[in-house]
Amino acid sequence: MALVLRCIRSRLPILVAARHASGGPELGRFSGKRAIVTGGASGIGYACARRLGLDGATVAVFDINKEAGVKAVQQLRSEGSDAHFYECDVSEKSTCAEQTEAFAKAEGEGKVHFLISNAVYFGSQALKATDKDWSKSMAVNVVGASNMVQSCHPFMLAAGGRGCSIVLLASVSAHRAQPVRWTYSATKGALHIMAKTMALDLSADSIRVNSISPAWIWTPEVSKAAQGDRKTWEPVWGEPFHMVRRFGEASEVASAAAFLLSDDASFITATDLPVDGGYMAMGPEGLGEKSKFAGSDEE
Ligand SMILES: NC(=O)c1ccc[n+]([C@@H]2O[C@H](COP(=O)([O-])OP(=O)(O)OC[C@H]3O[C@@H](n4cnc5c(N)ncnc54)[C@H](O)[C@@H]3O)[C@@H](O)[C@H]2O)c1
Repeated sequence: MALVLRCIRSRLPILVAARHASGGPELGRFSGKRAIVTGGASGIGYACARRLGLDGATVAVFDINKEAGVKAVQQLRSEGSDAHFYECDVSEKSTCAEQTEAFAKAEGEGKVHFLISNAVYFGSQALKATDKDWSKSMAVNVVGASNMVQSCHPFMLAAGGRGCSIVLLASVSAHRAQPVRWTYSATKGALHIMAKTMALDLSADSIRVNSISPAWIWTPEVSKAAQGDRKTWEPVWGEPFHMVRRFGEASEVASAAAFLLSDDASFITATDLPVDGGYMAMGPEGLGEKSKFAGSDEE
């Protein structure tokens, strides 16, 4: 009986995961705010753009993938969001500056309030990493975030600074060793400390900067690695890696990002928020199912 109950209990979070899929918009709380989301055409970035738009912000999707970006913006508009697409490779400093200015001037009265720096190059190498692997990883993931913060800064100052806020997407890979991830993890570690150093410098302008560290979130990238087969891979990468016993949803990361950008987080800066379902708090005992202490009388 205890075994049956434990099985039901361990499956329950998967059954209720769908509840989180649409997030929880807070209508109008971001009205009048202008937000940029890099990598907003897909996955977590798209969920962030959707959440900010539903909460009332004017949203710019900055993405290197024009076809996906245009499609994403059409979908966001069909749900009532004031969304716009800007083609941008975040590793190109001049393009970041031009497109940020274009958005600020066309849609934002010369102001930008929020930036979610989320665009990523996922290529991950270790002993076989080439100079090209390293330079692309650093250029997109690290320099790209810096390019976008530099580009947004003058328009955040024009918005008055206070109430402006930036979120960088780091990862649990910034905090924990994972196999064959030298290049990717190094960039995520860099973003983790960069958010704090940016927060220090931009505190003079009352601009808050934080990072988010997600664990395994079911996005197109993870789906690709799982050949689209969530049913097979959730018990392998989802359930055992997280205390909540499932993959995270992109909308759950978007909820955390929206919180950090909002005035509800007005005393929070230079911090990292794990959105990891308990991934980083676990030790080698994992979920504990195979490591009960002898003598324990709990079922
Ligand atoms: N999915 C996860 O499990 C997970 C876990 C931890 C952290 N993250 C982080 O979350 C973020 C989003 O991940 P995701 O899984 O949603 O990714 P994704 O692949 O679904 O989306 C990434 C987007 O970035 C865009 N992009 C790529 N290179 C770009 C460039 N040079 N300039 C502009 N846009 C570019 C892509 O076109 C795409 O739309 C990343 O920073 C990633 O490191 C994801």
